[in-house]
Amino acid sequence: MNRAARAIAHSNIALSKYWGKRPDAYNSPAVPSLSVTLEGLATHTRVEFRDDIDADRLVVNGREERGRGIERAAALLDGLRREAGITARASIDSVNDFPTASGLASSASGFAALAVAAVGAAGVDWDLARTSELARLGSTSASRSVFGGFVELDAGASRAHPLFPRDHLPLVVLVCVADEGPKAVASHDGMRITMQKSPYARAWLEEAPRLHARLRDALRARDFAGVGELAEASALAMHASAMAAGIVYWNAVTLDALATVRALRAEGTLVYATMDAGPHVKVLVRPEDVAHVRPRMAASRGVVRIIEAKPGGNAELVPSS
Ligand code: PMV
Repeated sequence: MNRAARAIAHSNIALSKYWGKRPDAYNSPAVPSLSVTLEGLATHTRVEFRDDIDADRLVVNGREERGRGIERAAALLDGLRREAGITARASIDSVNDFPTASGLASSASGFAALAVAAVGAAGVDWDLARTSELARLGSTSASRSVFGGFVELDAGASRAHPLFPRDHLPLVVLVCVADEGPKAVASHDGMRITMQKSPYARAWLEEAPRLHARLRDALRARDFAGVGELAEASALAMHASAMAAGIVYWNAVTLDALATVRALRAEGTLVYATMDAGPHVKVLVRPEDVAHVRPRMAASRGVVRIIEAKPGGNAELVPSS
């Protein structure tokens, strides 16, 4: 056992969305999803197994986490401890290089970095596929952030797999950070309530695999407009089913940014929007259109800043200094 290791992992944006868990298994997705891992949004994590502590500890951006964050980290570490025969508890120190306070999802990069660092600290020789399975115990979407480029997670799968390398489709994601609204419902609760209460849950579960298959074909063909249209359709269908259960992640900033994207498209620019469990609109744009699109999105009402991200690489260990 090496005891301590450091890792870096990047966030990812789902182009075809995962929303809904299988009732019979832990963190198992009910629908397939396809994401792109993003270079601009990273988590750096150090894990150390220690004999002098009797519970796992998690510090994120300098603050000790309690509640669900530590429970999910412990679930991930327990998966590793069971298989690697480790009893020691771990001290985890995690730092995001993007503002966590803005409500941007950090669980994907966070749990992917934790999985890679924990495997390194345990000194076991696991490949990225097995590490992806471990990351899923923290959050389902984290299983995709273990891999760079374009990544797929099948319905019911325990691990994600890489589909195309990061340079397969030239693409920039402009994350339009919305000003603070009321705290969003955690995705875990949002999808549970959607599945229980939404009159459109069944429609979503039927439509999502079809959208996913078409999006994968468009991506294989390097058809930027096809990928963008289907990504926007997937996000709208996911949010429509959630909204029908009373789960509303959007605010006025979201709607204005969506209108700005549609105005740009009406003017002839290939630009598309996607939204996750929060108010921020993520704009998909070709690299040659960034100079035109970025200032328009920055001027959209309520957008406080833009984070520009390109497809990123695998999660990996970084040498300890
Ligand atoms: O795995 P979670 O709990 O972070 O849920 C992710 C849900 C979405 O971000 C909305 C969609 C997705 O596929 O990433």
